[in-house]
Amino acid sequence: MRRAMAEAEVGDDVYGEDPTVNRLEATLAELLGFEAALFFPSGTMANQTALLLHAPRASEVLAPEGAHVFEFELAAPAMLSGVLVRPLPAPSGRPDPGAVAAAVHTSVHQAPTALLWLENTHNLAGGTVLDRNLTDRLLSVAREKELKAHLDGARIWNAAVALKTPPAALAAGFDSVMVSLSKGLGAPVGSVLLLPRALLPEARRYRKVMGGGMRQAGVLAAAALVALLDWEETLARDHALAQALAEGFAKLGLAVDPPPETNMVYLRVEDAPGFCRRLEAVGVRALPLGEDRVRFVTHRDLPEDAARLALARIEQVL
Ligand SMILES: Cc1ncc(COP(=O)(O)O)c(C=O)c1O
Repeated sequence: MRRAMAEAEVGDDVYGEDPTVNRLEATLAELLGFEAALFFPSGTMANQTALLLHAPRASEVLAPEGAHVFEFELAAPAMLSGVLVRPLPAPSGRPDPGAVAAAVHTSVHQAPTALLWLENTHNLAGGTVLDRNLTDRLLSVAREKELKAHLDGARIWNAAVALKTPPAALAAGFDSVMVSLSKGLGAPVGSVLLLPRALLPEARRYRKVMGGGMRQAGVLAAAALVALLDWEETLARDHALAQALAEGFAKLGLAVDPPPETNMVYLRVEDAPGFCRRLEAVGVRALPLGEDRVRFVTHRDLPEDAARLALARIEQVL
C-alpha cells in the first residue's frame, strides 16, 4: 500500500481531476452496482452527506438501536441536517419490518419520517449480518411508506464474506450506500458513498461544505485500490480468527455474547475498563464499551497464530 501511495498518479479531486480517485470511484460503483461513487475522508462524512441528501430539515430518520449514526456521530444529524434520528428496537442489529412500518409517522403532530437507515454489519450489535431476505422485507416497507433508504455499509465487505454473496447483492435497492475502505480492508483513510448519478453534484457540494474536498487525494485512493485486490481472502481469515478467539474464550470460561458472525468478538465481563487495562499490559488490545462489554476486532495486520498468542496471554491475566 505504501508503495502504491508513493507511486500514485494524482490531481485535484475538487475538480474531479485526480485519476486515481476517479479509478477508485469507478471500481467501487461497478463492484457495488451503483451509477456513481464519491470518495470521502471518512465514513462519518459520507453518512452525514447521505442524511443531507435524503432527509429534509425537521424530518426524522428511523435507524436500528446502536446505529453508528446515532451513537457515535456526535449529534451531527441534528447539527448538520437538522433531523432527528429515532432508534428502533433491533435485536442483533436487525429491526423487525412490521415494527418499522408501525413506527413511520403520519400524524401532523409528528416529525415526518423521511428515511430508513440500516447498518450492515452492525458494529455495536456484535458485527452482525443483515441478510438479503430481511433487507428486502425492510426495503419493501420503505417503498410502501415512501421513505428513502440508506445503508451504512462501513463493513458490507464482512457481511458479503460471511454470507458468501457479492457486496452488490447486499447494496441493491438502497438510495445510497456508504462503504469504508479504512476498517477491515485496511487502507489508511477513506470511505465511499454510492449513489445515483443525478445526486452526485449535490453530494460533491455537501462534501465540499464539510471541508472534504481534497487535492492529490490519489495517494489515499491508491491504498484503497490495493485493499480491494484481496479483501475476500483477508476478511475470511479475519472471520476464522474471530471464531478461534471465541472458542478459546469460551474454554476459558469467558462469556462470548453474541457468537461472532464476522470479525468482532464481544465479551461480557465485570469491570471492562480494568479488564482491558490488564490485557493491554500483556500486549492484547481490546476496546471496553461501557462497564461490562469488551470488543475484540481481528484484522489484516495480525499474525497467523494471533488467536493462540492472544489466548495464552489472556489466560495469564485471568
Ligand atoms: C458502522 C460504522 N459506520 C460509520 C463509521 C464511521 O466511519 P469513520 O470512522 O471513517 O468516520 C464507523 C466507524 O467505526 C462504523 O463502525
